[in-house]
Amino acid sequence: MHGLAKWTWALAATMIGQTLAGPIASKHGPIRVHPGGPRDIVVTKDDTLNGTFIGGTVKVDGLLQSASAAGTGQLPLAIVNNMAGSTDGQINCYVAGQDTSGNVVLLASDGTWYYPPGTTSGVPVVIDADLALPLGAEGSTTTITLPDYIVSGRVYIADGTLQFFVVTNGAGGAALVQPSPVNPSDPNAAVNWGFVELTNTADGGLYANISYVDFVGIILGMSLLGTDGSTQTALGLGADAVAQICAALVSQTASDGYPWSSLCMTDSSGNYLRALAPYDFIADNNGDAFSDYFTDYINSVWSTFSSSPLTVDTQTDAGEVACTTGGSDTLTCGNDNRGYAQPSAGDIFGCNTGPFALQSGDNAVHYAVVPRLCAAFNRGTLLLSGGDVQPGLPATDYYTTAPSNYYSKFVHDNEVDGKGYAFSYDDVNPAGENESGTVSSPIAQTLTITVGGPSS
Ligand SMILES: *[C@@H]1O[C@H](CO)[C@@H](O)[C@H](O)[C@H]1NC(C)=O
Ligand SMILES: *[C@@H]1O[C@H](CO)[C@@H](O)[C@H](O)[C@H]1NC(C)=O
Ligand SMILES: *[C@@H]1O[C@H](CO)[C@@H](O)[C@H](O)[C@H]1NC(C)=O
Repeated sequence: MHGLAKWTWALAATMIGQTLAGPIASKHGPIRVHPGGPRDIVVTKDDTLNGTFIGGTVKVDGLLQSASAAGTGQLPLAIVNNMAGSTDGQINCYVAGQDTSGNVVLLASDGTWYYPPGTTSGVPVVIDADLALPLGAEGSTTTITLPDYIVSGRVYIADGTLQFFVVTNGAGGAALVQPSPVNPSDPNAAVNWGFVELTNTADGGLYANISYVDFVGIILGMSLLGTDGSTQTALGLGADAVAQICAALVSQTASDGYPWSSLCMTDSSGNYLRALAPYDFIADNNGDAFSDYFTDYINSVWSTFSSSPLTVDTQTDAGEVACTTGGSDTLTCGNDNRGYAQPSAGDIFGCNTGPFALQSGDNAVHYAVVPRLCAAFNRGTLLLSGGDVQPGLPATDYYTTAPSNYYSKFVHDNEVDGKGYAFSYDDVNPAGENESGTVSSPIAQTLTITVGGPSS
């Protein structure tokens, strides 16, 4: 539509950018973080954990325990430091989550669960406890043992130190406030950090994943060893993936004028710290970003499938369903309880708002169409030859035409083994493919986490 105008503008901005540091040159580009204090924290559902706060002492199932008491759900984490060129000089691990009673826990440096105090303060209060678990030097492996089962857990790895906070939840309780990847003023914004998510329970065993659905930060990989000697791996990204992804995003902005480059954050020296997913960027006060990016494409999709159907393979007992717009604003699929309005860019990148928001009462067909339709938009496969059946085309056809979720493309380009979600329905694939970065086992013996790239 106005692609040429944008291209001309971007080229002009590039040409004059070195001499003119004005509003044109700075319209899109990596965002330099400026870490603030507790009042600069933006409390959202993505960086809070709202469990029970029993406060400051070691208490399990309502009973005081001796500080050394360990449960039956111990899990050793072997953390391999492959981090070349640490900025801080000290890589630290932090663990946060909930115990099986729903209490918020953090792992203290003495190896016990620390129960942070609740608060009635509306301004986040920093947790004053010894929570940093230092890793050994580059090339070494440090073993950190989780003292018991954990739910909704995160194992954070940081080049330097992280701060954790508590804030009132406004309803007589409190919330744990964890580092935010999206807020450039977050107190932790200048630290290079990331996390592995895990849940380990007696009934369900261990589930651990590395996700790039929200951002790419410090480079992490995983390997799970079972007590039977079996191993599962999710190798994660290459050592220099953040710089590679950000360079590709900067080039993408230079070619199409959209703010891909603004997904990247740098420290005060200009070093890339992380890349945000476009949904997270849009949600963080950038509501207009990418707003017309998919408009022409969506109109073409709607007219292409006006009467000739888009076939969605539900990959369930419901089989294939035919979807058409009939020239209307709504795409309607056979046996689906409701149709799909045209999505916004934010709806496409996030897959959980607008036409992609699931509602109670939605039937099995609707539950199957939402992920498959949203994945097809992110990968730009709907108008390709063979794209009238979804899912159907192989991964080599994903992201081959614009518009596409280029963040997802560049993340996948840098994945060592192709595994790790870059948007929430990245597990939609033709039968036999699975790109999730998940490891799971009922008989976990050790979870190995590599920091700074896979071991060679
Ligand atoms: C936790 O509580 C805070 C404060 O009320 C709220 O803003 C946040 O969305 C809640 N988090 C979750 C995950 O529900
Ligand atoms: C990753 O693991 C966490 C904790 O088990 C879980 O809540 C989350 O849904 C998982 N995410 C993905 C993308 O599998
Ligand atoms: C991919 O593998 C993960 C981990 O085993 C599993 O949770 C997920 O359901 C699988 N996805 C598909 C589409 O098979």
